[in-house]
Amino acid sequence: MACSEDFVQYIVEQCSGAGEIVARKMMGDYCLYCDGVVVGLICDNSLYIKPTEAVRALLDEVVFRKPYDGAKDYFYITNVDNRDYLSDIVRTTVVNMTKPKIKRKSKNMKVTTIYFSATYTTKRVVEAVAKNLSNEVTVYDITNDAPTDEVTIPADELVVVGVPVYAGRVPAMAAERLRRFRGESTPVVVVAVYGNRHYDDAVLELHDIMTECGFRTVSAGAFIAQHSIFPKVGKARPDAEDMADIKAFAEKSAELVTKGFGTIALSGNRPYKVPGGIPIWPTASKKCTACGACARLCPTGAIDPTSPKGVDKTKCIKCGRCIVVCPAKARRFYGIKYSLAAARFNSAFAVRRENEMWFAVEK
Ligand SMILES: Cc1cc2nc3c(=O)[nH]c(=O)nc-3n(C[C@H](O)[C@H](O)[C@H](O)COP(=O)(O)O)c2cc1C
Ligand code: SF4
Ligand code: SF4
Repeated sequence: MACSEDFVQYIVEQCSGAGEIVARKMMGDYCLYCDGVVVGLICDNSLYIKPTEAVRALLDEVVFRKPYDGAKDYFYITNVDNRDYLSDIVRTTVVNMTKPKIKRKSKNMKVTTIYFSATYTTKRVVEAVAKNLSNEVTVYDITNDAPTDEVTIPADELVVVGVPVYAGRVPAMAAERLRRFRGESTPVVVVAVYGNRHYDDAVLELHDIMTECGFRTVSAGAFIAQHSIFPKVGKARPDAEDMADIKAFAEKSAELVTKGFGTIALSGNRPYKVPGGIPIWPTASKKCTACGACARLCPTGAIDPTSPKGVDKTKCIKCGRCIVVCPAKARRFYGIKYSLAAARFNSAFAVRRENEMWFAVEK
């Protein structure tokens, strides 16, 4: 049985949070590519992903199956309806697959990524930077957790650190978790991802935090992504143009690390902006099936798993994760305050902003 075009299109859309997704026809079935890398197959209206240890850890259910007679075993993906879940699987497959053909891998510096990313766009940007630097990537996702003991990253490695901009600042929770890392004059690429309004003091603040922790900033970028509270702003970004900027940014950063670098001048002010906020919190409609995903994945424990429709306003940081992980699409910001703020925001920040990048002086 061949695949239906509708199903193939559905899978391409479901995975699109991971990067540039393409399905190419191959004898009645389809080969699935993400950013030019083969990540799996679509056969008989089912999705199969190349097996890696990193993806195994992400799967709700590990099922090995051969996509066709004589094929190797692949992960058979039983849940294709959760877009973020699929995008995570595909992105992780890309990052964790060996790609010996790619020349830049000959640089192969050891890279560690550290990121806080509630709605996964910062993760995407940081991963895109890292994949242009090395095959050997160690990942610290500090959104839900952070190492309990201090982690030291030696001087001969390179760190890519990424946070979203919240109210022009580094999210307080991310700042606190980043302070558990120590550098030994280790080079760091600083990445702030923001929703097309402005990054204000976040790039400078992130640089300052990393400097205090013993890192040396080689480069910094303020990259645009879809706004996680007002998704019409910066819609569908980062896009292909952003990805090209990110690639050039990573390549220039790698060159500077190899040649040697001095100080860097960044945009932003000290003292940093005092963060403000709108009195809105996401809750769930009656479509909620009480599956508990939002409560499990909320970075602050603001959702009671026994009563997941509500929210603890004293704990919620409005990060939007519960909205994007809800398989029933039940959760969002409701109410007149949100509608008014969204209308204002959508018109004030409709004009496309461009990414900004800064580099240390070459030695
Ligand atoms: C609480 C909060 C505050 C935000 N503040 C800003 C801001 O000051 N400027 C801006 O352009 N975007 C702002 N955004 C949008 C995020 O920076 C943007 O959507 C980012 O891509 C989210 O990253 P993530 O997908 O890794 O969570 C804010 C988002 C949230 C949730
Ligand atoms: S309840 Fe608040 S803090 Fe928790 S995931 Fe939702 S928006 Fe983020
Ligand atoms: S993720 Fe959605 S459906 Fe599941 S408990 Fe939360 S609000 Fe309800």
